[in-house]
Amino acid sequence: MKAVICTKYGSPEGLQIRDIDKPIPKKDELLIKIFATSVHIGDTRIRKVDPFLVRLVYGLFKPRKDLILGLEISGIIESIGSDVKSFKVGDEVFAFTGFRLGGNAEYICLPEKSAEGTHEKKGLITLKPDNLSFEEAAVVPSGGLTALKNLQKADIKKDQKILINGASGSLGTYAIQLAKYYGAEVTGVCSQSNFELVKSLGADHVIDYTKEDFTDSTNKYDIVYDAVMKSKYSHCKKILTENGVFLNNSRLSKFTENDMLFLKDLIEKNKLRPVIDRIYTLDEIVNAHKHVDTGHKKGNVAISIVQI
Ligand SMILES: NC(=O)c1ccc[n+]([C@@H]2O[C@H](COP(=O)([O-])OP(=O)(O)OC[C@H]3O[C@@H](n4cnc5c(N)ncnc54)[C@H](OP(=O)(O)O)[C@@H]3O)[C@@H](O)[C@H]2O)c1
Repeated sequence: MKAVICTKYGSPEGLQIRDIDKPIPKKDELLIKIFATSVHIGDTRIRKVDPFLVRLVYGLFKPRKDLILGLEISGIIESIGSDVKSFKVGDEVFAFTGFRLGGNAEYICLPEKSAEGTHEKKGLITLKPDNLSFEEAAVVPSGGLTALKNLQKADIKKDQKILINGASGSLGTYAIQLAKYYGAEVTGVCSQSNFELVKSLGADHVIDYTKEDFTDSTNKYDIVYDAVMKSKYSHCKKILTENGVFLNNSRLSKFTENDMLFLKDLIEKNKLRPVIDRIYTLDEIVNAHKHVDTGHKKGNVAISIVQI
């Protein structure tokens, strides 16, 4: 099968398309034919060895042999191991691959079930929402789950005021829609070129970060979510209400299968939609990484592997 191998840490040019053996599912695994995947900021950070800890997991001096990036996929189950009960051949699925990565390829094997809260090791698979294309479904798991768990951590409630910094990025575009779902009043911080996008997702107010420092605002917020990790609690403290909560993504959340099902349900009820900036093919992986590296993508970047 065709796969993108990360042959060197550093620039995107270290990513090479190679032919490798198609994986064979174990008893408890599914073999998924991947139709679409994503280039996520997490992939680019592993490629760039940011943070250094990456080397301890994926190879100290150079990436381990056959390191395939890719945290998210969508596709169709091609075969199943003898112990698999809850999926069948032909099911359309979307999945978070977790720290095992491996999504930037034509096939992947993933275990049917992961123990609660162990997504980092095993990944999570769910039936694909009916109303999304494979490209759209492939960009949901990581950004959607991270934004959801962060807002739940802040115990977001109806009529609360939330400010989302980085509202036009992957996490920001999910966070706006989820905050509106919970009934909050949303202020999105982005550049003017993204005002229309951010408002179309439900933001009630927008602030242009290139013209204004949002921490100079006279408004107070119950939650400040620095989705793009460009600010600090010490700067945002003055715009928080007395019991206000500051959030960013510095601590990884545990995801569960129920969280994936929750997102699927919201998507099928048209309460949540992924934003796709660009779609590349597997052969264009270097350009896809270069685009994510700019730090200015709108929503997500998908890789289409099987075009239908
Ligand atoms: N995505 C995930 O699932 C995930 C999970 C865990 C942790 N994280 C971490 O969370 C952070 C954000 O990830 P992401 O994937 O959401 O990023 P992203 O999609 O790459 O963010 C890009 C967006 O951020 C905006 N932006 C850039 N500089 C900004 C600034 N100073 N103020 C406000 N907006 C700014 C850009 O808008 P303009 O073009 O207008 O500048 C662009 O739309 C990263 O540090 C990442 O490592 C992400």
